[in-house]
Amino acid sequence: MTLVIDPKVFYFGTPVVLVSSINEDGSPNLAPMSSAWWLGRSCMLGLDATSKTTENLERGSDCVLNLADSEMVDAVDRLALMTGSRVLPEHKAQKGFEFEPDKFGRAGLTPLASDLVSAPRVAQCRVQLEARVTAIQPFGAPHADARAVEVEIIRTHVDPDLVVPGTVDHIDPVQWDPLIMKFTEFFGSAVNLRPSTLARGFGMMHGAVLSPTDSSASRR
Ligand SMILES: Cc1cc2nc3c(=O)[nH]c(=O)nc-3n(C[C@H](O)[C@H](O)[C@H](O)COP(=O)(O)O)c2cc1C
Repeated sequence: MTLVIDPKVFYFGTPVVLVSSINEDGSPNLAPMSSAWWLGRSCMLGLDATSKTTENLERGSDCVLNLADSEMVDAVDRLALMTGSRVLPEHKAQKGFEFEPDKFGRAGLTPLASDLVSAPRVAQCRVQLEARVTAIQPFGAPHADARAVEVEIIRTHVDPDLVVPGTVDHIDPVQWDPLIMKFTEFFGSAVNLRPSTLARGFGMMHGAVLSPTDSSASRR
């Protein structure tokens, strides 16, 4: 049996990304978001049309997708009701948002120069993806005024402890514990539920970590 409902949000659970971008005066902005997915070397970001980040990306700013892990939950939460927009849109003013030109400082996070883009990385993030915008489309009508921002990942930085030993191109899914936003609540857990058939098909190098006989293996 099912119930027909009208959910307030469809946030079923996605990783939290801290998107850094460059403001018109050259200063950095930083914004948490979680409507993000990756395919190939591209990522699609779902962003409110009124956000400073959206404005920056539409003006031509590049960005860094800094992936937050579960230990960064307090820093992410400190940014929750802030915007880099000096003039607040009505819907944010009603929710109690405030203008904050120094998001790094307020979050207690450290900017780190990127290699290929102007936007800074977040030193505390264990995965930092330098990216440039390739397309921006309207998204969400008639219920939301949003943008689908497609970016190309041009450089990937990861904490060496996240790389599967003996490889240079595989991130260890057990070591990586993403901060997940689910229905506006924060979740994180490195528990691996069972061996993945997709991983076997992709020839992924996680066998040493995730053996079929020990599906809850963890090196933590
Ligand atoms: C955990 C979390 C996830 C969020 N996900 C999104 C999102 O996917 N898209 C979006 O537009 N805003 C999202 N927000 C809200 C933005 O952070 C908010 O609009 C913020 O003001 C953007 O900052 P900016 O205006 O300086 O760009 C999220 C906020 C939090 C705390």
